[in-house]
Amino acid sequence: MKGIILAGGAGSRLYPLTLVASKQLQPVYDKPMIYHPLTTLIEGGIREICLVSTPHDLPRFRQLLGDGSRMGISIEYREQAKPEGIAQAFLIAESFIGNDAVALILGDNIFHGADFASAFGHFERGATIFGYQVLDPERYGVVEFDGSGKAVSIEEKPATPKSNHAVPGLYIHDNDVVAIAKNLKPSARGELEITAVNMEYLTRGTLRVEKLHRGMAWLDAGTSTSLHEASAYVQTIEKRTGIKVGCPEEAAYRRGFLSISQFEEIANAMPRCEYRSYLQCVIEQVGRAS
Ligand code: G1P
Repeated sequence: MKGIILAGGAGSRLYPLTLVASKQLQPVYDKPMIYHPLTTLIEGGIREICLVSTPHDLPRFRQLLGDGSRMGISIEYREQAKPEGIAQAFLIAESFIGNDAVALILGDNIFHGADFASAFGHFERGATIFGYQVLDPERYGVVEFDGSGKAVSIEEKPATPKSNHAVPGLYIHDNDVVAIAKNLKPSARGELEITAVNMEYLTRGTLRVEKLHRGMAWLDAGTSTSLHEASAYVQTIEKRTGIKVGCPEEAAYRRGFLSISQFEEIANAMPRCEYRSYLQCVIEQVGRAS
């Protein structure tokens, strides 16, 4: 399975923070926001990734992540010239997707405590999306379930939500998604809506909606308040456990994408900083355990 990270948009809700650096480059406590969705894909076992962003922001992402080899993965870059919807990413990345299935994650979505390895690894066909209970579902895509727990509708930012289950920005689709995206018409807000793609799978009877368990955290960081809350969350967990949240190098090593010597080399090449000390602690722990 391939992975797409969509890190587009003008970030207008975070203005003036986003005048110079895009939303997904803003710090979530101690790392750039994009490290979180990147880590989620790596932890789930995906190593071929395409990052889609604006022509203005792409050079910064390249500067940050390069070709991905520092994280044992490959990263390609594609431009989204105008913010014309999440589903447009499938058209922009068509040649990258090729004949594969694809997991699309939004650059401002932060997952903690969820394990998507089996959702990615066991995926065969159709689409898999997730549902997560929130207090303010009207801000999101909302999925409605019938009495037997089967998904019956998805609505984009409904004024009167039919459930408290928001659809997080992580979607798994089979290769049909490219053709489906090609047939979409722009919505009233002029976008190719991901919700319309998922509705098509629902109509075909091939959409699976997995409820994420309440013990995990799904945060988005698209407003100054949610950005601050996400930072506070990450700091709290890291301070309590000593384990970093959203550390792609560590995830790549634990997934077997980097050997211990590559991991060591990458850590040693960093300037002396807390991040490097953390990676070196991980290396020491691994050494002690083996
Ligand atoms: C988008 C999707 C929405 C989804 C949300 C998750 O919303 O359109 O369905 O629930 O991402 O973050 P937007 O970021 O455009 O507000």
